[in-house]
Amino acid sequence: MRVLGIETSCDETSASVLDENFKILGNVVLTQDEIHAPYGGVVPELASRQHITSIIYVVQECLSRAKLKLEDVDAYAVTQGPGLIGSLLVGLSFAKGLAYYFGKPLITVDHIEAHIESVFLENRRIPFPALALVASGGHTSTFFMKKKMDYRLIGRTRDDAAGEALDKISKFLDLGYPGGPVIDELAERGDPRKFVFGLPHMTDGSLDFSFSGLKTAALKLIKELKIAKSHPHFYDFLASFEMAVIRALLANLAQAAENLKPKALILCGGVARNKKLRHHFEEFARKQRLTPAVPSPEFCTDNAAMVAALALEKLKKGMTPSLDLDLNAYPRVSLPCSPSREVR
Ligand code: KG4
Ligand code: ZN
Repeated sequence: MRVLGIETSCDETSASVLDENFKILGNVVLTQDEIHAPYGGVVPELASRQHITSIIYVVQECLSRAKLKLEDVDAYAVTQGPGLIGSLLVGLSFAKGLAYYFGKPLITVDHIEAHIESVFLENRRIPFPALALVASGGHTSTFFMKKKMDYRLIGRTRDDAAGEALDKISKFLDLGYPGGPVIDELAERGDPRKFVFGLPHMTDGSLDFSFSGLKTAALKLIKELKIAKSHPHFYDFLASFEMAVIRALLANLAQAAENLKPKALILCGGVARNKKLRHHFEEFARKQRLTPAVPSPEFCTDNAAMVAALALEKLKKGMTPSLDLDLNAYPRVSLPCSPSREVR
């Protein structure tokens, strides 16, 4: 059994083949960072055009690394949403074409659910119940999972996502796109205690996140103190802002853990690549005697291995793949009412 996964929800074109034991036989991720960098963020029209140009080469390269031909694939998996609609449609149409031509099943997956699945790619022994925090450029949400593929949304961002806040500050300071990895590197040279940012707080006691207040406070400081690369406290500023984002994420997770008493804590999504976040997350889990689970950095950002893995998981649970080639992409969040509900 070999599943070919395809991911094109934002600005990464990715293909991956997994065997029935979740072993990755081939995995290719082509980023479009250079295309979007001059704009300081993803330009949807450019993203979908680039997916169209790249997808065939990415799939070919993935199959060649796996030493397979298209005929050797038993099922196709593709991200259906949420994401940029034009980008999603490229992957979905391509996967539909393959499924139709080869007469093989097509399994569509939810992008946020696939991010959570990325944790299980390398560690299949995560105890339940678990709390899963997905922090990326488009999403910041926490789910309570009583068991595998069972999600209860317990908090989500009301405005910006964590990665989006990092990207915007980077853009404002002219540091490049994506901002998360740049700030990750530069912040290492600074003192995270130099600038104090308040912890976002929901007055209604909910476990939702908010990053727009932090972003506005940071922008205000940048203007007032004229923070730029030449400023003596430039690195301290970045380290302090990065730490404010980390504190906001972990304070929320700590509250959720206290309320829901999970056995494991899952951290995934692009922001989970952040070195300091990974360190503080693991330290927090250890102190609470909870099992921490974070994917390797390469599986935190968008990739098709998590897409193929989730499809495989669904097939193993007995989900009948859809033969409906009328399937459409969806741009907005669907979890916890994701298609996976069918397989519980
Ligand atoms: O999961 P992802 O590839 O795409 C979405 O689903 O949104 O996440 C991309 C986000 C971007 O905002 C990027 O700045 C952030 O992940 N990111 C990081 C790091 N690497 C990527 N944020 C902080 N530290 C990093 N090392
Ligand atoms: Zn993502």
